[in-house]
Parts: sequence; structure tokens; C-alpha cells
Amino acid sequence: MSNYKDAADFIKKSIKFAPEVGLILGSGLNELASEIEEPIYINYKDIPHFPDSTAPGHKGRLVIGQFQGRNVITMQGRFHHYEGYSMDIIAFPIRVMKLLGVDSLIVTNAAGGVNTNFNPGDLMLISDHIKMAGGHPLMGPNQGDFGVRFPDMSDAYNKDLRVKVKEAAKLQGINLQEGVYAYMTGPAYETPAEIRMLRILGADAVGMSTVPEVLTASHAQMKVVGISCISNMAAGILDQPITEDEVIEAGKMVKDKFSKLLRTIIPII
Ligand code: HPA
Repeated sequence: MSNYKDAADFIKKSIKFAPEVGLILGSGLNELASEIEEPIYINYKDIPHFPDSTAPGHKGRLVIGQFQGRNVITMQGRFHHYEGYSMDIIAFPIRVMKLLGVDSLIVTNAAGGVNTNFNPGDLMLISDHIKMAGGHPLMGPNQGDFGVRFPDMSDAYNKDLRVKVKEAAKLQGINLQEGVYAYMTGPAYETPAEIRMLRILGADAVGMSTVPEVLTASHAQMKVVGISCISNMAAGILDQPITEDEVIEAGKMVKDKFSKLLRTIIPII
């Protein structure tokens, strides 16, 4: 607990307002952080006990400021389990956000479309998840200051917020799919057989992030809104390979739509 507190206390010294909304941006969506007004940047490496992102080209910093009149905190540079970061490391920033006062978390990602009615460029509101990968951020001694040993996950993607988000998106003319996100470790994309399996299990999209963060946030009673950008159809659906470039390109393609959706969501959560 003291490590989380040290980190939060360090951040508090640099900011004037406590952040209320946490924002985690997925592949290709990082640029959205540039829309934060009066930003304060804090490098991960300067924060006590904070994990540092080693991936080349990653900024590795927090951006704290205002977005649509709300105080937000976002991470430029996210930690993925497939990069070799432990689940504890992935959980760390979420718990620090909680100590800073964040009670709602918006988590975004790029994902493969498993539901054949989806198209690349679609946005999907996450209604639930299926964790296919091993490891769990809540494993080990329970951090009782954050939450209980056996947290309930029946409303991990807060239903009331989902209703609000869908209504707001509709008013703005933003088409929003809704569905179940399956978490695979990666870093290889799935095989066509795995995608057929995931579809039978009830998944609509597949990706390699988000679920560890959501488990940590939900344990700490944070309300979560999850949004996937469908960057590609999952393996075996189209007769073509999946490339990282197409995932990044799709992020750029939906940037305006995604910003508009975030501008719509942030004031209402
Ligand atoms: N599979 C897993 N993760 C992903 C995909 C995918 O097809 N696309 C973007 N992230």
C-alpha cells in the first residue's frame, strides 16, 4: 500500500485539481491525449515506484488536465502483459489513480472483430469480458484497502453508464456496437481456430489488453466504460493476414469519431 501512496503523494504535489476520470488509450488512439487542456506531464520514471515503459517510441508519462470540463488523468504509454510486464505492474497505475480520486475509468483498445456483423472502423461498447489468458492482477495477498478478496464482476462494465453512453452516442449520431471482449495474452494474433472457438463462447471482439486494468479498477469500486475500436476482422474471417500496420491505421481512421465519442461520454460519467 505504501508504494501506491508514495506515488500518489508525489503526483498530488504537481497538480492543482484531483482527477475524477481516468482514461487509458489503446493502440493508435494515443494522440487523443493532445486534446487535454492545460496539461501537466509527469514522466513515469520520476514517480516513486511507478513502472517505466521501455517500449521504443513510447512517451511513458501521465497527462493530467481538463477535458470537456472534467479533471482527467491519462497514461501516455500503457503496459501490456505480452511485453513482459507482470500483472502487478499493470495494476499499479490504476491503484494510484484510485488514490488520486478517480472514480470512473474509460478504457479503450484496438481489437479484432470476432462478430462477423462488425466492420473495421466500428466502435464497440464493451458489455462484458471473457478472460482467456492466465495470470490475474488480484492474485496474491488481497490489497484490502482497495477491495475485497473475491470481488463481484457482474457489473464490471457499469450498466447504468452503458445506458447513458448509448443514449448520448445516438444523440450525436455515432454508431456504436456493443459486445463481449475476449482477452488473449498475445503477442501473436489468434489462429482462425481460436477465433471460431471465441465466437462459440460468445465473444464479439478479441484483444490483448484492458481486462487486467478493468479487474483492478472494478476491485477498487471504480466504474468502468470500455470501448474497442475494431481495427481488423479477427483471424480467418477474411482471406488475408493481420498486420500491426492495419491496427495502427484503423486507429487513425477512427480518431475523429473516437474523439467525438469521448467528448460525449466524459461530461456524463
Ligand atoms: N487480435 C488480438 N488483438 C488485437 C487484434 C486481433 O485481431 N487486433 C487488434 N488487437
